Amino acid sequence: MEEVEDYYHSVLPFYDAELADRGDGELWAWAASTPPGCRVLELGAGTGRGTAFLARTAGRIVALELAPEMIAVAHRKLAGASNVWLVAADMRWSPLRPRFDLVAAIDDPFVHLTADEDREHAFATAAGHLVPGGRFLLDAAWFSPDQRHAAGNPEGLVKENPGRGGLSVRETWRCDPTARLCTASYEYFVRGRRVREASFPARLWSREELEHRARAAGLQIAHLWGDYDRRPWDRATSPRLIAELRRG
Ligand SMILES: C[S@@+](CC[C@H](N)C(=O)[O-])C[C@H]1O[C@@H](n2cnc3c(N)ncnc32)[C@H](O)[C@@H]1O
Repeated sequence: MEEVEDYYHSVLPFYDAELADRGDGELWAWAASTPPGCRVLELGAGTGRGTAFLARTAGRIVALELAPEMIAVAHRKLAGASNVWLVAADMRWSPLRPRFDLVAAIDDPFVHLTADEDREHAFATAAGHLVPGGRFLLDAAWFSPDQRHAAGNPEGLVKENPGRGGLSVRETWRCDPTARLCTASYEYFVRGRRVREASFPARLWSREELEHRARAAGLQIAHLWGDYDRRPWDRATSPRLIAELRRG
């Protein structure tokens, strides 16, 4: 996990500007709006970017985050939000006892868990903290078949993201085509000048892994969405995979 902390240490100065236009805010505010007074557990809260969306509608939120520097930013950002509790903890080993109506994994923190055992533990945290009928929403790290094909080539899958305030970001994903294990490299440019580069080992979800983990944890797949507007997911054409899993 030190590798994860090092990665976020390196990209922290650019992190919020990079994600400012992700477009997922309405989804998370909607998700936390039911039931009224919704009790939310957030996994991998980062700088509190997604937490702020949840906080608009949730009754109360407990947000877990591993990296101390990320959580320090979240503390400052959410100082005025009386319904948010930030907890420095590893989501594989939750120190909490309460149960929640909603567990949210925003901009997939599971991407950093490349080993089966770690994914199992973190998934068990999500499932184990749900009340009966509770929901686990995961914005999964997932690529369409075309994207996976590109990521399997030596030059990798390259995405160029215009950020804010003169920042632009180039992501390059190189993946093992069979195991869904990747190296994700991020280059940051300010007004065209490259100012930072950092990479991390990553693991992508497949629908099959999602189904398997849900079944093992006693959850059912309620919805699979292909984007933040909750259009139905399509394996060939969807840009994203967002899963809503329900506890029976
Ligand atoms: C891609 S960022 C997403 C942050 C935030 N959810 C957002 O949408 O901006 C993933 C976050 O998960 C955190 N993370 C990774 N592994 C974790 C773990 N085992 N336990 C808790 N947090 C973890 C990282 O430190 C990072 O802040």
